[in-house]
Amino acid sequence: IRIVVLAGGISHERDVSLRSGRRVADALAGHGLHVELRDPDASLLAFLRDDRPDVVWPALHGASGEDGALRGLLEFLGVPFVGSHSGAARLAWDKPTAKVIVERAGVATPRSITLPRDAFRELGADAVFEAIADELPVPLVVKPARGGSAQGVTIVEDRRDLPRAMVDAYTYGDVALVEQCIRGTEIAIGIIDTGDGPVALPAVEIEPLSGVYSFEARYNAGETRFYVPARLSDEVASRAAESALAAHRALGMRHISRVDLVVDGSGTPWFLEANVLPGLTETSLLPQALEAAGHDLGWVYAALAEDARR
Ligand code: DAL
Ligand code: MG
Repeated sequence: IRIVVLAGGISHERDVSLRSGRRVADALAGHGLHVELRDPDASLLAFLRDDRPDVVWPALHGASGEDGALRGLLEFLGVPFVGSHSGAARLAWDKPTAKVIVERAGVATPRSITLPRDAFRELGADAVFEAIADELPVPLVVKPARGGSAQGVTIVEDRRDLPRAMVDAYTYGDVALVEQCIRGTEIAIGIIDTGDGPVALPAVEIEPLSGVYSFEARYNAGETRFYVPARLSDEVASRAAESALAAHRALGMRHISRVDLVVDGSGTPWFLEANVLPGLTETSLLPQALEAAGHDLGWVYAALAEDARR
């Protein structure tokens, strides 16, 4: 079969995507498959229509890759592709929406306020900051409602730092999410479904040496310590895995996802977000979990592509 891996694109996570795509293409090629790596641009539509690859493997992060736009195009053209369909991608990509859906499925998620930029103009900044103070105690996490790789994310310990954090979040979009910061063990649970139902991989525990799992801590080797499996009791680990699977299912995701959670001191997992196309770079979490579980990356990525054609 001929697989086209899409990587790059025009999102804020372009560079990360190029790294993920290269690694996916290498793994598939190592598995003996015919792979073409392609950076999507305006010629993509004609290419897909005329060349009709057997399967597209989207390794695109961020807008257009994870927001459902490109996936909708592939659906429209009838080109099989790996990963969630456009509808599920749209739900998961929008963090406030995903939180509501996953909470309804019985998984805790930190209290939060969703704030469009316009709220500041309409209500005035003082009223907005007062409303946040009434609703949410510090520490807070401020992030773009849509986005990845911790871009525009700030942990606010002191309320005076909130305006600055809001400005950073709005750099990446017109809606910000202000969330209560849950202290605990940060974990990420990869989920893979090659056709027999979603399976949770061992949780990866994240311990950024700087204290915050920032963009730099994500993509520079050695800046974060990982524990696979996470240092959780069996009971808490299985509870976290159940929560991750519940989130994956509630959002209607397919093939691959990564659910990010914080486990608090009492062992309760709190849902932060679900990633449509988790990072697949050499420092990323899901490939580490696959390898720790004894899987061959090429085999798994090829199995997903095979399933997409069914
Ligand atoms: N958004 C990045 C790629 C991640 O989820 O790993
Ligand atoms: Mg993310």
